[in-house]
Order: sequence, then C-alpha cells, then structure tokens
Amino acid sequence: MTYLEVGVFEGRALLWLLENILTHPTARATCIDLFPYNLEQRFRHNLDLSGYASKVTVMKAPPTLSSENCPWILLISSILIY
Ligand SMILES: C[S@@+](CC[C@H](N)C(=O)[O-])C[C@H]1O[C@@H](n2cnc3c(N)ncnc32)[C@H](O)[C@@H]1O
Repeated sequence: MTYLEVGVFEGRALLWLLENILTHPTARATCIDLFPYNLEQRFRHNLDLSGYASKVTVMKAPPTLSSENCPWILLISSILIY
C-alpha cells in the first residue's frame, strides 16, 4: 500500500496510519508540506521517535505551491490510499 499526505503538519495522522493501517512491511508513505516556521523540525522529531522513518519519504513543497499562488489547488488534509 502506498499513501500520500499533502499537508502533513506535525505527522500525527500519518503516525496513526503507520501504526494501524500501513502495517505491511512493504507499505510506504510520502508526505508533502510547506513546513513553515519550525514545523519540519517538529515533524521529523515525531517521525524519528516513531521508528517508521524508513517507510516515509518527506518532501518540502516550494512556497510557489502556496494557496496564494495556486488558488485552484485544494488538497490539504486529504488522504489518498491506493
Ligand atoms: C490542518 S494541517 C494538516 C493536518 C494533518 N493532515 C493531520 O491530519 O494531522 C494543514 C497543513 O497543510 C500545510 N500546507 C498548507 N498549504 C500547503 C501547500 N500548498 N502545500 C503543502 N502543504 C501545505 C500546512 O503547512 C499544514 O501543515
């Protein structure tokens, strides 16, 4: 199973999914966020503590993908599982 989360924030929802849904050894997750302020540090701290970091790819979205520049994108808090 592959999971994509856009707008991962501190990673709480991601970590719940890793513990309860994405439990197969081959399951992987990709997370994207603008990570403003020190959010990326908090997210990575939570992910490292979880022990699931090896299953997760983290991408920092460029500021040009902010809603101010791309008002036609509304995908925050969406969960796609396929
Ligand atoms: C409400 S929080 C998401 C909460 C998270 N999905 C959860 O369930 O715990 C919204 C997140 O979207 C991120 N965000 C806002 N605009 C974004 C964009 N254009 N691209 C990627 N992430 C974005 C914010 O930085 C924030 O971390």
